[in-house]
Amino acid sequence: MNESTDRPGGPDLLELPLPKPGECPFGPPPEMAGLRERTPVVRVKCPTGLTAWLVTRYDDVREVLGDAERFSSRAGQAIHLMAHADPERPVGDLEFSRLDGADYQRFRRTIGPELSTAQRMAELRPMVQALVDERLDALAAAGPPADFYGDFAVPVTTAAIGGLVGVPYADRELFHNAAAVMFSGATSRADVLEAMRPLHEYLFTMVVTRRATPADDSLSRIIARSEASERPYTDVELVGICAALLVPGFDTSATVMAHGLLTLLAHPEELARLHAEPSLIPRAVEEIVRFLGGAPGIVRQATRDTEIGGHPVAGGDYVVLAMQAADRDTAAFPDPDRLDVGRRPNNHLGFGYGTHQCFGQQTARLELTVTLETLLRRVPSLRLAVPLEDVPFKTGSIVYGPAEVPVAWDAVLPVAAAGGRGTGPAGR
Ligand code: HEM
Repeated sequence: MNESTDRPGGPDLLELPLPKPGECPFGPPPEMAGLRERTPVVRVKCPTGLTAWLVTRYDDVREVLGDAERFSSRAGQAIHLMAHADPERPVGDLEFSRLDGADYQRFRRTIGPELSTAQRMAELRPMVQALVDERLDALAAAGPPADFYGDFAVPVTTAAIGGLVGVPYADRELFHNAAAVMFSGATSRADVLEAMRPLHEYLFTMVVTRRATPADDSLSRIIARSEASERPYTDVELVGICAALLVPGFDTSATVMAHGLLTLLAHPEELARLHAEPSLIPRAVEEIVRFLGGAPGIVRQATRDTEIGGHPVAGGDYVVLAMQAADRDTAAFPDPDRLDVGRRPNNHLGFGYGTHQCFGQQTARLELTVTLETLLRRVPSLRLAVPLEDVPFKTGSIVYGPAEVPVAWDAVLPVAAAGGRGTGPAGR
């Protein structure tokens, strides 16, 4: 490890994670506000033992994310939490998200169109709508109560990302198992490699098959685009691309979906605004992502001696960007601790910012929008089946949110009775 990251932080070194009492299930740890105010760039010791600068102000976080030349992604996004992810290990062929500059853009250019254009989202919308309606029909048939996270959100987002890449729902265990191990804070590198192997083998066969016989899926189109480029992907790179979409592509969205519903049920006046004015739903989706904060901090490494918000940072130092704290910065958002489903503008950092911002953000927006629209239409009586304080939260995963959201309802209206299917685009 390099000298600057190893240097002792002194006796007062702050330790992450900061305490987060049970009574604030939606916000960042309360101490973050004081840090943002008084020591917005502060030396911390991370759960993996890594020493880094914690950055909590909106402008500072955005500046770092927006300057990939000064702040590299090479160490890995969440090395402060994932014990298996050694920041110094060489970048493997399967890990494009640790690349910078032109090497990274080669991937972004080819994969981006599959997950971000308005046309692609319009094509995906009927699939997502059908998945949401099918899951609601299944819940209606089984009757209340149900776990909105396990019985609805996870199956919907799993089928959506599987459908997008071309992996049938029946084979979901492969990427579910890989994600569980990958996002656990406690596993070893060997465990991760072991959990990824069956997925990689499966994807390798899929890549070879699609090369020979293209299908109507993202992988086939990515292969075609790559073959028309100067430097086509190797099979191993294609396996890495598919895994990079499947592994982070379901539980992030499912968790925000379940956490978002919980947030709305805990803020009935905001839910009532959505019932009265469903056209606010796209703004509500942005607000949920801002309010809950997507990622538990993102790591960058300074490429040279520099400064953040006037604070000196040495080349080689690690930086942990506290996006959740940044998205509650009073300098960037009026009344930031208030959930406001009509908030506008809302330039939150929940999907990141700059070069490496979330690949799947439009897909996630689509899933969240269609789900909210459909729940309001088809299950207006949806409610929590237990007191809020009895909702269990995940432990041992870096994707923070409820482990279960027990819900009940009076009736699930059939699609036709609920006024058909929404057709508007997802987005800001
Ligand atoms: C509400 C759900 C989601 C949230 C809050 C979220 C959040 C984020 C954030 C904050 C980043 C930035 C990482 C960085 O700057 O280093 C990111 C990157 C990424 N996300 Fe998401 N994400 C979500 C859903 C998804 C979905 C559905 C997919 C797949 C379709 C996905 C795939 C990715 C990938 C591949 C990257 C890496 C990008 C890169 O390093 O180049 N995410 N996500």
